[in-house]
Amino acid sequence: MSIRLSNGTEIPIEMHKIRIVQKVRLAPARDRFRAIEEAGYNTFLLRTRDIFLDMLTDSGTNAMSDNQQAAMMQADDAYAGSESFYRLLDSVKEIFGYEYLLPVHQGRAAEHLLAKTFVKPGHIVPMNYHFTTTKAHFDLAGGKVLELYTDEALKTQSSFPFKGNMDLGRLSVAIEKAGPENVSFVRMEATTNLIGGQPFSMENLRQVKALIEPLGIFLVVDGSLISENAYFIHQREAGYENTSIKDIIREMMSIADLCYLSGRKSCSVRGGMIATNRKDLYDAIRPWLPVYEGFFTYGGMSSKEIEAMAVGIREMTQLEVAGASADAIKYFVALLEEKGVPVVTPAGGLACHVDARRFISQVPQSEYPAGALSAAVYLTSGIRGMERGSVSMDRDEHGNDVPSDMELVRLAVPRRVYTISHYQYAADRLKWLYDHREMIGGLEFYEEPPVLRFFAGKMHAKGNWGQPLLEAFEQDFGLDC
Ligand SMILES: Cc1ncc(COP(=O)(O)O)c(C=O)c1O
Repeated sequence: MSIRLSNGTEIPIEMHKIRIVQKVRLAPARDRFRAIEEAGYNTFLLRTRDIFLDMLTDSGTNAMSDNQQAAMMQADDAYAGSESFYRLLDSVKEIFGYEYLLPVHQGRAAEHLLAKTFVKPGHIVPMNYHFTTTKAHFDLAGGKVLELYTDEALKTQSSFPFKGNMDLGRLSVAIEKAGPENVSFVRMEATTNLIGGQPFSMENLRQVKALIEPLGIFLVVDGSLISENAYFIHQREAGYENTSIKDIIREMMSIADLCYLSGRKSCSVRGGMIATNRKDLYDAIRPWLPVYEGFFTYGGMSSKEIEAMAVGIREMTQLEVAGASADAIKYFVALLEEKGVPVVTPAGGLACHVDARRFISQVPQSEYPAGALSAAVYLTSGIRGMERGSVSMDRDEHGNDVPSDMELVRLAVPRRVYTISHYQYAADRLKWLYDHREMIGGLEFYEEPPVLRFFAGKMHAKGNWGQPLLEAFEQDFGLDC
């Protein structure tokens, strides 16, 4: 929720009180320099003790509610037939309107099962945009991911409310070219992670379904950020301003044939699931669940997390929960825009995304501007963000780099974790860095895994630009900041 102050400023307002806290430390810049050098300029390889604000991701890092924690106490650890599963199933039936449920240990496990069951060599999988783990699983199964976004999607500065929409013309051409029998399914990702957390509209979802249903193709929603997408529909789509988040989610699910999700995001737990009303789809996936995940009633999740998810699914439909991150991100993005720091607009659903191409235009894409900027942000603030650019793309079959559509530094805003002073601090340090942007150079890999290289790859700062940047920072802020 946001609230207007008497001077007219709008601020995000917390509709909760904080009664358990976790201490953080702001290590001096000199220590941060050592840490990022050791991490090979890859923020994934930093340790928590060296991080002040952890904005790597909202995945598994949202604050849980007291009710979620309380529910964990009644976990039923039965290997088979656990009551915890049936409580989760009740929530899924109530909120999603789906009868069939397959719990999995996290979102990528759902993608693995979908790929194993439905993606065949030579198939295409059209989607509004890929996510890293989605693409890895669908590629490994021999499928080809086609991203059929609209012209608006890749404009980092925009006021278009639904940059996560699918281009229906491109979808129709792609299906005709491949033949409907060679389409595994169509995937719509709620608040597209890699292009700035941008939502799709209900109208677009409905149009996609209308196009593919007569062709016998089913519609999959990646609902990892479903409550945020629903919140944007509530805020931005005509006709939905008076519809509850619960009813919006229910309507989205009535259009989709199947929904899978990482429970680590909207649901504020650590787990995942696949749910549907289509018995044929459920029956096709179900045999693989005990092979790869676990028995049907836990599927790789702990019973405690299943209980917390049952509560999290209900709580994410509360307006102030669904909008908690979105409103904080809006505030954070506005602060940065005010200071002239280039960010993705409109503000999206999981993070504030800094546009590295515009921030450090001197660094060519072959030298990974988003990776370099993520490291520079950490060095000069202690804030850990995530590279979402070409480092996050694996090489093609010929070993060539695949330039990413966007070069973004994602500063994730986990739900109910940070406060206004944190965003103000972040904006201040980013402004300082923007004023010193010419000091930032590129990166070069010296250790590079073959798949999902962004997790573990290590890089050098070309020309050792980290050292002079550290010295300039210490000159302005002293040795302790
Ligand atoms: C849209 C989307 N799909 C799938 C996943 C994968 O989920 P997990 O990290 O739980 O495996 C994520 C994770 O961030 C995601 O954002």
